[in-house]
Amino acid sequence: GRKVRVHHLRELKERGEPWPMLTAYDMYTAALFDEAGIPVLLVGDSAANNVFGYDTTVPVTVDELLPLVRSVTRSVKRSLVVADLPFGSYQLSPQQALETSIRFMKEGRAHAVKLEGGQRFAPHVEALTAAGVPVMGHIGFTPQSEHNLGGYRVQGRGEAADVLLADALALQAAGAFAVVMEMVPAEAAKRVTAELKIPTVGIGAGPDCDAQVLVWQDMAGLRRGKAARFVKRYADVATVLQDAATAFAEDVRRGEFPAPEHSFHD
Ligand code: KIV
Ligand code: NA
Repeated sequence: GRKVRVHHLRELKERGEPWPMLTAYDMYTAALFDEAGIPVLLVGDSAANNVFGYDTTVPVTVDELLPLVRSVTRSVKRSLVVADLPFGSYQLSPQQALETSIRFMKEGRAHAVKLEGGQRFAPHVEALTAAGVPVMGHIGFTPQSEHNLGGYRVQGRGEAADVLLADALALQAAGAFAVVMEMVPAEAAKRVTAELKIPTVGIGAGPDCDAQVLVWQDMAGLRRGKAARFVKRYADVATVLQDAATAFAEDVRRGEFPAPEHSFHD
């Protein structure tokens, strides 16, 4: 099949066909999701929580994310790979955003980047798109600002829906090719989706967005414990992996692994 391009995503919106997006942080998941027909893979700064073991996305760095981006782009045939710009790597200025994005494009071979923020980041988005970097926006609940937003809370309720729409329109006008909306009321997300020409990607944003994204460890049940309301678990990978490790351990302890067929003989 052909590589997914940003104009394909807009065509899907025009045809009213919802599309899926997943995070990926390494070779096997990237190749599997690419083969499963996921058109867009995000190397999210959620690697902070889901790969590196931080408790927020704030501490993860460009140098930590770059090798993950590189492994994902090396492993896909069709999927469009979006690299998330981590906290501190773009907020200072449009120039800083461009310098960081150039690293993700050149060293990571990313196809696009994503950054958090609305109207106030329109100049950053404009600088990137002018330089040839496709940009995905991210509004509503933005995890890099969790200390400012007062924790994990739904954004854009009531009159704040107008701000959400203004932010989305500003990102579109600045040249963004899509915009993620995280943890916003379904009604607000529906309104933004109807007003925008570019696709909206929802996570906790109801059923009317043009696309839906989940963190893969949430989607596949690798991460245990209580999940957010917006997560649906499609598998129990945690149990599958743990059972495999337990069976291997028992085999070794009983002297049943390796068997003759796993051994080399003269
Ligand atoms: O980092 C991430 O995984 C994200 C998605 C949840 C949109 O930003
Ligand atoms: Na992110």
